Amino acid sequence: MSLIEQIDLAKVPNHIAVIMDGNGRWAKKRGLLRVLGHEKGAKAVQETIEAAGKTGVGYLTLYAFSTENWNRPKSEVDKLMNLLVSSLKKEFKTLHKNGIQLNVIGNIEDLPSKAQKELQEVIEKTKNNNKLTLTLALSYGSRDEIVKTVREIAHKVKNNIISLENIDDSIINEHLYTQNLPDVDLLIRTSGEQRISNFLLWQIAYAELYFTDILWPDFKKEDLYKAILNYQNRERRFGKTSEQLK
Ligand code: IPE
Ligand code: IPE
Ligand code: MG
Repeated sequence: MSLIEQIDLAKVPNHIAVIMDGNGRWAKKRGLLRVLGHEKGAKAVQETIEAAGKTGVGYLTLYAFSTENWNRPKSEVDKLMNLLVSSLKKEFKTLHKNGIQLNVIGNIEDLPSKAQKELQEVIEKTKNNNKLTLTLALSYGSRDEIVKTVREIAHKVKNNIISLENIDDSIINEHLYTQNLPDVDLLIRTSGEQRISNFLLWQIAYAELYFTDILWPDFKKEDLYKAILNYQNRERRFGKTSEQLK
């Protein structure tokens, strides 16, 4: 039986988030420039979106550029921003045809105006699609998001829009970039690193974590299926005992 046939379609994670890591090392191993790793990484993005679509995942969130990534050499940052624009242009039709809705999280105002414009266009054109919500995390940092959330809520308390007693999980959720997204069920990180790197700290509170040594440019549909199968063999207890779940 092929990997996809082994997946229990009734139990696919609703929300998968991916830390796409290892583009630079993939290129270095081949004696290529880092930017070529990013180009190949963009192909792995298409592959993953397609695979997610096949399994009926509702939400796919991809960490494409962190707040910390601004500290990379300018030439690499520029290349990543250009790659974002060209990928959106190139893939828009396929996304739309497959019922994918594009969403972004992060400090979008920090991106070059060309990228902002392209993103807004695709978001607008795909807003009525409902097969899969694809969220790109761009200039995203979880601490940054939390600071912004705290500020907004404090401002509302000060102006008597929210009372102090009413602050709870859902009020916080409503102020995060991810306000329209469910909690993450499965978090995947490629390249062998086992860290979170400031990604969705609040939203992964009960996510299942999956680490693979595969470098992002080598990530294929089957690798996503493997991660889903691994997830389906876990017992998510949410604090309860195993017996209580039966
Ligand atoms: C992930 O690959 C892509 C981004 C962070 C934009 P890296 O560029 O971090 O690749 P490594 O970690 O150097 O191999
Ligand atoms: C995390 O990868 C950010 C993205 C995948 C966009 P990094 O390669 O920047 O992470 P660290 O800095 O090595 O933890
Ligand atoms: Mg990296």
